[in-house]
Amino acid sequence: MFRYEAGSCLNTTYISGAPMIRVTVGIQKHLYLGLDLPDSEELMFDSVEAADTWLAANSEGSFTIDLGPKYPWPKHWHGTIVYNGSRYLFFACINRPSLLQPGDSKIVKPFSMSLETKDILMNEFLGYRHRLKQQLRHAKALVARRESGQAIQDFDIRGELYGLACEIAPSARHDDLVTMRHWLSLRGNERIVDLAAGTGFFTKDFLSQTTGEVIAVDPSEMQLSVLNKVCAGRARLLAASPDNRQAMSVIPDASVDVVSSFGGLHHVDDQRTMFEEVARILKPGGQFTAADVCANTTLARHFDEFVAAKCLTGHTAQWLDEAKLRELASSLPLKLERVEVAPLTWKFSSLTEMALFFKGLHAYDLSEQEVIDDLQTALGFTTENDQIILNWPMVFFRFVRT
Ligand SMILES: C[S@@+](CC[C@H](N)C(=O)[O-])C[C@H]1O[C@@H](n2cnc3c(N)ncnc32)[C@H](O)[C@@H]1O
Repeated sequence: MFRYEAGSCLNTTYISGAPMIRVTVGIQKHLYLGLDLPDSEELMFDSVEAADTWLAANSEGSFTIDLGPKYPWPKHWHGTIVYNGSRYLFFACINRPSLLQPGDSKIVKPFSMSLETKDILMNEFLGYRHRLKQQLRHAKALVARRESGQAIQDFDIRGELYGLACEIAPSARHDDLVTMRHWLSLRGNERIVDLAAGTGFFTKDFLSQTTGEVIAVDPSEMQLSVLNKVCAGRARLLAASPDNRQAMSVIPDASVDVVSSFGGLHHVDDQRTMFEEVARILKPGGQFTAADVCANTTLARHFDEFVAAKCLTGHTAQWLDEAKLRELASSLPLKLERVEVAPLTWKFSSLTEMALFFKGLHAYDLSEQEVIDDLQTALGFTTENDQIILNWPMVFFRFVRT
């Protein structure tokens, strides 16, 4: 068994045992030093190959440690940052294994690091920032491929970034869930269709609220595959067409208790056709309860001006309001029972968390400060009990199938 010792970043203890030396010298390659925050962790591998495979599979990025001029070790260590499912680990490799002797035990202390490295090691958002950067680069490459003629949908480009946003601030949208639950007032056995389901933020909640079938409709295969994981395969997936007719045609007439949607109806090309399909699949007495950005509000303007210009894929929308909803449902067996703008807020534990969330959510290749400045000017946020509370008003409405 080879040992990879871990220590805290500022008090790094490197202990080499005979098995490790044998490996290092034998392959004339690298010796890994694991550093971890906030406390240490030991990783065991059966072989160097196993360790290398693990590192390659888990690698999040790289960094350089500057040990300073006094220490007789290589001045710069190049390292890898890995996420092992629960925490970030920092592996540095020395390219001169001959410096080590069997049984060596060296205390590498004090540990002088370049400012950049300190930032990296001390920063709780390190891994996230790195993955965000990688995904933004990937998204830009996809946008370029699309510009050269390849058909790639916006939400396939943004899928991973969207997932990262949910990861950095998983409880930011708690208000959305609570308000939707309140509007739906489910009995617990409904068959529910989640339209524009995305990565399953609501689908998962619906599954916990009903024993009935939950059907997720979205045009993005990428998002549906994330949703499938998020919902542990328990939702039925339907790939949407731009007007949703094709997707919903497999759902029988009058067979669904609830159609719901959050933040996605503005993307539907032919909203009238979508309304016709909703009216067709709902049982009499069934509800179509949804929320979206309301036309002619500060939030809609924010999307049309800032998001449209700065999101890597751009952003186009057909916003809804009460007049538009009535027009879309005219002559259909849908009765508008309630409509109002709910003053939702999204909550973050810091400005950085908020900026990173939006960089992922809206695929912004902008500095964190630019994102914060825009949100402050366009939407406004307050700080309460160390939480950032951002205004995110949405129009909620409920139609009942007559
Ligand atoms: C802002 S996301 C909302 C996702 C999810 N409801 C949530 O609250 O997290 C908008 C979603 O609308 C989907 N979408 C785009 N065009 C659509 C269409 N024509 N029909 C249904 N969904 C569509 C996108 O793929 C994306 O997943």
